[in-house]
Amino acid sequence: MTKSILTLTLVVLAGTVQGQGSYETWHGPGPNDSRGPCPMLNTLSNHDFLPHDGRNFNLSTVKNALKNALNFSEDLGSFLHGQALATNPNGTTWGLDTLSTHNILEHDASLTRADNFWSNDAVTFNATVFNQTRSWWTADLIDLQMVANARLGRLLDSAKYNRDFSISDLATSFSAGEGAAYLMVFANNGNRSEGLSRKDLVTYLFENERLPLELGWNTPSPAITKEELLTNIHRVVNATVYKPELFE
Ligand code: HEM
Ligand code: MG
Repeated sequence: MTKSILTLTLVVLAGTVQGQGSYETWHGPGPNDSRGPCPMLNTLSNHDFLPHDGRNFNLSTVKNALKNALNFSEDLGSFLHGQALATNPNGTTWGLDTLSTHNILEHDASLTRADNFWSNDAVTFNATVFNQTRSWWTADLIDLQMVANARLGRLLDSAKYNRDFSISDLATSFSAGEGAAYLMVFANNGNRSEGLSRKDLVTYLFENERLPLELGWNTPSPAITKEELLTNIHRVVNATVYKPELFE
C-alpha cells in the first residue's frame, strides 16, 4: 500500500517536473495564461506540451514540444524557434504573447482571425472569417489547390475591404507555411505523399484548439523536416494563381 502510494507520488512528480504534456492532458487557458494567433501552438499549450501559461519558450522547450506532439524534426523545431524569436527582439525566449504583435509574424488575411483594422484581437477564433476560409475547401479532403485558394481568397478580401491592409514578405511566406503545415500535419491516413488533408481534423483543431485524437488523428510519421516544410511552402506559392472567374 505504502509502496504504491510512493510510486504514484513519484510518477506524478516526474510528470510535473518534466512538464512534457500528453495527448490525454487537455485544459484550456486560465485567466493568467496567454494565448496567441497560432491555433496549433495554443493547442500545444492546452495539452501542456508547451508551458500552459504560454510564456517564455526557449529552444529546448520548443524543439521538445514539436517533437513530442507532432514528430517535427530537430532542424524544423530550431528553424521555427528562430523565426519566432523575431517577435521578441534581443530576447532568447518568445511566447504566445509575443507572437501577437501585428506585422512581425502575425499578419492580416488570417484564416480564422479578423484583421487588425477590424479588431486588435489576433487571439480569438472568428467564425465569420473561418466560414470564408472553409468555403474554399470544397471537398472532405483538402488538396493543395484548396489550400492555395483559401489563402488567396482571404488575401484578396483583406486587400479589398481593409484600407490599412499590408503584409510583409516574411508574413507572406509565413502564411504559405501555415497552409503547408495543416496540409502535412492532418494528412489523410497520415500519408503525406498524397497531398490531401482531412477537413474534419483541420476544422476540429481550429474550433477547439485541441488535437483531434477523438477523430482518429495520429502522430505524423515519419518525422516532418525543415526540407519538407520548405518544399510544401513552394508548392503552396506555385499553386497560388489568380483566376478572375473564381475570385470575383
Ligand atoms: C498561424 C506561429 C507552428 C499552423 C500562426 C501565426 C503565427 C504562428 C505567428 C499567426 C499568423 C496570422 O496572423 O494568421 C507559429 C510558430 C510555430 C508554429 C512560431 C512553431 C514554433 C505551427 C504548426 C502548425 C501551425 C506546427 C501546424 C498545423 C498554423 C495555422 C495558422 C497559424 C494553420 C493560421 C491560422 C489563421 O490564419 O487563423 N502561426 N506557428 N503552426 N499556424 Fe502556426
Ligand atoms: Mg493574423
